[in-house]
Amino acid sequence: MNQKNKAVKIVAFASGSGSNFKSIHQKIKRGEINAEIKILVSNNPKASVLAYASAEEIPIFIHNKTRFPSNAQYTDTLFNELKKANADLLVLAGFMKKIPDEIVTHFKRRILNIHPSLLPKFGGKGFFGMNVHRAVIELKEKESGVSIHFVNQIYDDGPIVAQSIIEVKVDDSPEDLAARVLVEEHKLYPEVVKAFCEDRILWENNKPKIVKEN
Ligand code: GRF
Repeated sequence: MNQKNKAVKIVAFASGSGSNFKSIHQKIKRGEINAEIKILVSNNPKASVLAYASAEEIPIFIHNKTRFPSNAQYTDTLFNELKKANADLLVLAGFMKKIPDEIVTHFKRRILNIHPSLLPKFGGKGFFGMNVHRAVIELKEKESGVSIHFVNQIYDDGPIVAQSIIEVKVDDSPEDLAARVLVEEHKLYPEVVKAFCEDRILWENNKPKIVKEN
């Protein structure tokens, strides 16, 4: 998909603080990932990530049902932005809304998402933010972690491309665990985006696999 030396055009999506988005953007800025962030999409006009995007002169597109109430408008306006941006890859980084099915179909194997657990455990509707870590601790799991997966039509269900395991300590609070998981998120997500941009994600039997750098 990526022609050699051509920067991959990314449209990023974030709803909150966007620390994962920043970790990816910083690597792009330093030239460690050959990509360009074309737009940041957010459903939340109050998201703190927007201040960062403005300061970095990244165009922002606010996309939500308040601005685009009908389903058709909602999907079409987003589709138009993605086409205008000539997007190669969509990167969901703490994005709280579902991507419309038509867009998921169009961008098959080109939408990545991050989730703060070892999917398929603790994924799906309702498992977001601190809920995930609370559930992990309540069920006395020994391990949690980070999953990066390609997006399909079902929440947190698409093919997993990379995971990191984090030990759950007996006295961990959900916040303690979240903090350690987040540190790992900031490492793993840029690695996966970089692999995508270097055509190092291979598919076999509908399963993605990262090929190591030479
Ligand atoms: C992360 O834990 C991510 O896995 C989840 O939401 C959180 C977003 O954090 N989907 P941030 O907005 O990237 O700081």
